Amino acid sequence: MAVDLRESWALGGVEIPGRLVLAPMAGVSVQAFRRQGRRYGAGLVCSEMVSVAGIQHRNERTLGYLRVASDEHPLAIQIFGSDPTAMGDAARMVEAAGADIVDMNFGCPVKKVTKTGAGASLLDDADLACRLVEAVAAATSLPVSVKMRRGVENGSRRCLEVGPRLVEAGASSLTLHPRSAKQMYTGTADHSLTAELVSLVDVPVIASGDITSRARAQSVLATTGAAAVMVGRAAQGNPWALREIMGDDSEPTREEVVAELVLFMRETVRELGEHRANGFLKKFYGWYLGRGRFPRPFKQELVTLPTLAEVETRLFAAAPGARAVLVAPSRRDTTEGRVDSLDRAANGYVPTRAVAPEA
Ligand SMILES: Cc1cc2nc3c(=O)[nH]c(=O)nc-3n(C[C@H](O)[C@H](O)[C@H](O)COP(=O)(O)O)c2cc1C
Repeated sequence: MAVDLRESWALGGVEIPGRLVLAPMAGVSVQAFRRQGRRYGAGLVCSEMVSVAGIQHRNERTLGYLRVASDEHPLAIQIFGSDPTAMGDAARMVEAAGADIVDMNFGCPVKKVTKTGAGASLLDDADLACRLVEAVAAATSLPVSVKMRRGVENGSRRCLEVGPRLVEAGASSLTLHPRSAKQMYTGTADHSLTAELVSLVDVPVIASGDITSRARAQSVLATTGAAAVMVGRAAQGNPWALREIMGDDSEPTREEVVAELVLFMRETVRELGEHRANGFLKKFYGWYLGRGRFPRPFKQELVTLPTLAEVETRLFAAAPGARAVLVAPSRRDTTEGRVDSLDRAANGYVPTRAVAPEA
């Protein structure tokens, strides 16, 4: 029987209106990405991992990751670190920022993170992992979730030992990306481990890894008993993957693609400022315009243009009908009126219909 992806479920006390979750991705999961994810069907979105050390030192860029807009909820903010006191303090900041859930990163395989005792290396130190969850659960009234890999080494089943202990320590939900840290993104996600984890814990489990289509989402939900599926790479520059998973498999027109990209660019400028956004957005051109939607030389040309205004002009020249799509009421209503603490008057993209900033 087909699984209903629109069914709501509860993570701690938070109602999640659907069984599709947008993955946290460093260098990708800006507010524009999360808002877009919500518009295209994700029931829950997540920030990229935020450094607890950065929060502790009140690093300006790190604090920027804690900004929350009114149209993102429900939203999890993910933190990473290895010091229980600092983790607890960071969780308090996450709550004050307006997130609905504090997510803890026990899955990052990158050396820079694991060498500090954080990320996936915590799967090899279950005692510390539990102390971190306890500290965060004690510090905040928000539900606490943990995202982890299967273990550090290839073939590891460590997540099945650590997972139940994390729940005992206070985790209200577990997300499993069943690859080892050593694997990085090679091979495949072994969701038979997700099914085993589901059978061991009495909290919702979210299945992450290689969910690229409605068929795959349905089959992973049905065979694992997971509460939800999480989509990462398939949604990069491709919110239509989320729409397909939710049941609408119509291909976007070129005009729609350009309108969505321009909207994403404008929102990102608002969030990061023109200079940072310019570099950040380059990888998105290929993601949006690939998949046979536009010729390769066009994507290559966009990357070389010095300003975002020029990129926008070039995009509209390639798909003139996109202007009308961009200002269509359905799109405008979900974006232009929404202003949060990020809006910066300096970048020229400030919407005219501002509403009060989020508390
Ligand atoms: C560019 C990139 C950045 C990522 N950053 C994070 C992160 O900050 N926190 C996290 O828990 N996982 C992160 N991940 C892992 C994803 O959340 C997800 O678990 C993984 O990509 C597998 O799902 P997918 O096959 O749907 O992409 C990242 C993945 C990618 C590709």
